[in-house]
Amino acid sequence: METRMADMTRGIDEEEMARAGEILKRGGLVAFPTETVYGLGANALDEAAAARIYAAKGRPSDNPLIVHICEFSALDRIVREIPPEAKKLAEAFWPGPLTMIFPKTDLVPYGTTGGLDTVAVRMPNHPLALAMIRAGGGYIAAPSANTSGRPSPTRASHVADDLNGKIDMIIDGGDVGIGLESTIVDLTGDVPAILRPGYINQQMLEALLGAVPIDPALLKEDPNLRPKAPGMKYRHYAPKAGLTIVEGRPEAVRRRINELAAEEERTGGRAGIIATDESVSAYPLGIVKSVGTRTDEITISAHLYGILREFDELEVTRIYSEAFETPQLGQAIMNRLIKAAGHQIIRAE
Ligand code: TXA
Ligand code: MG
Repeated sequence: METRMADMTRGIDEEEMARAGEILKRGGLVAFPTETVYGLGANALDEAAAARIYAAKGRPSDNPLIVHICEFSALDRIVREIPPEAKKLAEAFWPGPLTMIFPKTDLVPYGTTGGLDTVAVRMPNHPLALAMIRAGGGYIAAPSANTSGRPSPTRASHVADDLNGKIDMIIDGGDVGIGLESTIVDLTGDVPAILRPGYINQQMLEALLGAVPIDPALLKEDPNLRPKAPGMKYRHYAPKAGLTIVEGRPEAVRRRINELAAEEERTGGRAGIIATDESVSAYPLGIVKSVGTRTDEITISAHLYGILREFDELEVTRIYSEAFETPQLGQAIMNRLIKAAGHQIIRAE
C-alpha cells in the first residue's frame, strides 16, 4: 500500500482533509497530529477498521483503543451514562489532553474496546485532529501512531518511519506540543482514578473532584498488581541500548553519570546521555543530548520520545538519563522514563 503524506503544517488543506474523511468512512487508516502525540485513526464504530489498526501497529488485541470525538454531544451515542464528574472535567479540560473511561453502549464494537464493556473517550485540542474526526464521521479510534513497542510519535516523520506502506495516509501537522499521551481517568468505579498520568495532573483533577487516586499498579513494580489500563502493563518504550535513570541532587547526578559513562567507555562501550540545557556542558564523555530546559518543563516532555528514537539510531551501548521531577509534568515524564528504563533507577548521593 502506498502511504499518502498530506502536508498541513500551514493549516487545513480542504481537499486532502476531504480525502482523509473518505478513507476513514470506507474503513481505512489515517495518522494525524494531536496536541499530545500523533494518533492512528480508524472508524471506531467499524470493527473491521479497528482490526486494521491492531494489524498495522502489531498491537496486542486485548489493549483497547481511545475513541476520539469532536463535540461533547457525541458522547450520548457511545456512553451509557455520563456521570456529573465527566461534565465538570469536560468543561475544564476538553478539548484537551484528558481521556475519560465510561460504560459503553452497544454501538461501540468490542473490537474497539479490546473486549471490555467500557470505552475510553477523548476530545483532542488540535484543529487538524478535530477537522479530521468530523470529516471521518465523528467517532475515530486512535492509539498512538507507532509500531507497538516503540516510543509514541511526536512528528510526522516518526509515523512514517514506523508505518510507511502499512496505512493509507499521514496528515503532517508539524511537531506536537506536549509530547506525552493524555491523562486517563476512570469514571466507572466508586471514585474517579488516574490510570495513566499526563499533562492534566493529579492536582488539577483534585481541584475539581476531590481525591483522585492513582492506580497503585503504576507506582511500584509488583507483578501481582495489574494496571487497570491494559496498555500500561506493557514496557512500551525500550530503547535498544538499555536505559538507566540517575536521580538525586544535580551535582551528585552529574558526577555519577560521568562515572558511569567513563566506566562504559573504558570497557569498550559508547555512552549516551540525556541531559538538559542547564547540564549538557557538564558531561565531557559520550554522546550528550539536551532534551529541553528545566525552566520550561514542556520542552522536556515534548522532546523525550524524539530523543529516545534518536538514540536508537546511534551506536550507543548504554543510555544514562537525569531524572525529571518537574512541577506539573514530572509524574507523567517519570512514568514514561521509568518504563523505558525497565525500572533501572539509581540514586546518586
Ligand atoms: O494522547 C493520547 O491519548 C493518544 C492520542 C493519539 O490521542 N492516544 C493514545 O492511545 O495514547 P494508546 O492506544 O497508545 O493508549 C491508550 C491507553 C492504553 O493504555 C489502553 O490500555 C487504555 O488507554 N484504555 C483504552 N480503553 C480503555 C478502557 N476501556 N479501560 C481501561 N483502559 C483503556
Ligand atoms: Mg501507545
